[in-house]
Amino acid sequence: MNDNSTPLLQLDSVGINFGGLRAVDDLNLSIKKGDVVGLIGPNGAGKTTVFNLITGVYKPTDGVIRWKGEPISGLPPYRIAQRRILRTFQTIRLFSGMSVLENVLAGQHMETHQTWLSGLLSLPKQRREEKALRKSCMEILEQLDLASIAHEEATSLPYGIQRRVEMARTLAAKPELLILDEPAAGLNDSESVELNKTILGIRDQGVTVILVEHDMNVVMNVTDHICVINFGRKIAEGGPEDIRNNPQVIEAYLGSDDDDDEEAA
Ligand SMILES: Nc1ncnc2c1ncn2[C@@H]1O[C@H](COP(=O)(O)OP(=O)(O)OP(=O)(O)O)[C@@H](O)[C@H]1O
Ligand SMILES: [Mg+2]
Repeated sequence: MNDNSTPLLQLDSVGINFGGLRAVDDLNLSIKKGDVVGLIGPNGAGKTTVFNLITGVYKPTDGVIRWKGEPISGLPPYRIAQRRILRTFQTIRLFSGMSVLENVLAGQHMETHQTWLSGLLSLPKQRREEKALRKSCMEILEQLDLASIAHEEATSLPYGIQRRVEMARTLAAKPELLILDEPAAGLNDSESVELNKTILGIRDQGVTVILVEHDMNVVMNVTDHICVINFGRKIAEGGPEDIRNNPQVIEAYLGSDDDDDEEAA
């Protein structure tokens, strides 16, 4: 296998049982470097569970997950995060009592090489490192249009902005694969349009993205490839157009009461 043929991330017949419930079943998924992949399906389909499997929160009952060809399933979450497979959560998890910038700086802890002692003594090397970190965090805040509120307390900001802060914090740890669990949840229409631009901007910087999202305006406009699951099983896979027109998908998920996808054309 060479670099071009090895997918960045590969799920090979992955399954997990929770007691009697088969939450994910025989899931095969291959993600190429540079792609934006959508994982969609009805509530309870198993989407977040797939993310928990990829990030090591759960160990698959069956199958293997490979990162650049190397099995990673079963590794603890911190070992997976060290490979720069990084996520946001379906429910926001920001640190309260800390500013936007401090929250984003916290995301960069993996980038620092300072030791306890150099931190205590505030050595010149450590001060330089800290300055560089702040600079790169401010650049991320600029990119996500958060720079003007860098010093406001993160958890007292409106929900849509908190979601962006969470994304900024994850970006600060320099993901190679960015995993977004419902990034548009709770966003208004203009915020979700902004989110599309943000996601494409992140992709343009060379980050591969996998996202779970119910907002079809986001899914249809930013993804290169979509995997649809229902009851833990893949029911369809393909480009946005294939998925939009797939009768099985329309029946299982898009349904007649979801007219959002028409606007996404
Ligand atoms: N730790 C767990 N223990 C037992 N059952 C679980 C656990 N985590 C998830 N489940 C079950 O697995 C199924 C899939 O849940 P999951 O959260 O992955 O769905 P989802 O597709 O993310 O749904 P939503 O769109 O509502 O976020 C559900 O039936 C859920 O109740
Ligand atoms: Mg979920």
